[in-house]
Amino acid sequence: MEEKIGQLTRDCGEEIAAAGSENALYAVRVKYLGKSGLISDLMKGMKDLAPEQRPVMGKLVNDARGTLEALFAAKGKELHDAELAARLAAEKIDITAGEDKLTGKLHPLNAVRRRLVDFFVSMGFDVMDGPEVETDYYNFEALNVPKDHPARDMQDTFFLGGNLLLRSQTSASQVRYMEDHKPPLKMISPGRVFRNDDDATHSPVFHQLEGLVVDKGITMCDLKGILDSFAKHFFGKDTKVRFRPSYFPFTEPSVEVDVSCSMCHGKGCKICKGTGWIEILGAGIVNRKVLRICGIDPDEYTGFAFGFGIDRIANIIHSIPHIKLLYENDIRFLEQF
Ligand code: PHE
Repeated sequence: MEEKIGQLTRDCGEEIAAAGSENALYAVRVKYLGKSGLISDLMKGMKDLAPEQRPVMGKLVNDARGTLEALFAAKGKELHDAELAARLAAEKIDITAGEDKLTGKLHPLNAVRRRLVDFFVSMGFDVMDGPEVETDYYNFEALNVPKDHPARDMQDTFFLGGNLLLRSQTSASQVRYMEDHKPPLKMISPGRVFRNDDDATHSPVFHQLEGLVVDKGITMCDLKGILDSFAKHFFGKDTKVRFRPSYFPFTEPSVEVDVSCSMCHGKGCKICKGTGWIEILGAGIVNRKVLRICGIDPDEYTGFAFGFGIDRIANIIHSIPHIKLLYENDIRFLEQF
């Protein structure tokens, strides 16, 4: 019997070594160590042995079983590791395979809007978001543009019926902000605006950024100071700012603001149409009537407001020849930023 145990152990060891997969190894295990395997068969022969022989043989069988268990475990681990490595190699995903594809980034308009907002936030301005569908009251009436007033024609508005319209200017945010905040106040309100204009230089949707400061003793000088820093920050240190008289119903006096052309430094070029100046925004001292409508005493407080097109600023910063390019989403164009 001792001989038999030795033979079985050697045979089994050879078959373990030869097993080429986890399944094959399992089959060997069943053959030798299974319930009706060869080792169990051997145990059945015990009853024919002399009583004093049984414990000796029992020990031999158990030792053999232990040896084989260790062999199975080692081989099992080896096969498992090999099969895992083979699967990992076969199922490998090359996550760099798309490397030469386009990567996402901010649209130039959003990138410029963020820079503009950062600039004003750094100067202590609060940021407000107004609704794109506005009421006639906030877009016009509270801004001193009554119904049937000719100033309504300055902005060709999309009326939605009832009292609603698509806001034609972010100036509507001025009124909403002053209703909720008492001076001293400093806010900007960037956002989309809509006008019924569609040609080479106009888009029916564009973006504005409104600014409003109200406090005691605010003058045109404060407006000019802020706009001067703004222009130097975005268009270069030598940029000059010039005010021209203008008209807006909600500011009095009103100005149109030009910056010296950063392309030709005032000499005159294609960008500035030979004038040396580029018009960038409308502004002025907040009309006393608007302050009063918003519940602010115009004898105690004064303020300035300004509004510019974010699209226009983006075009100047990046020398983009016309606004439509910003809306076509042509990858060849967007890739350049
Ligand atoms: N809302 C004006 C426009 O769209 C710009 C402006 C804003 C003018 C604030 C004065 C003060 O043309």
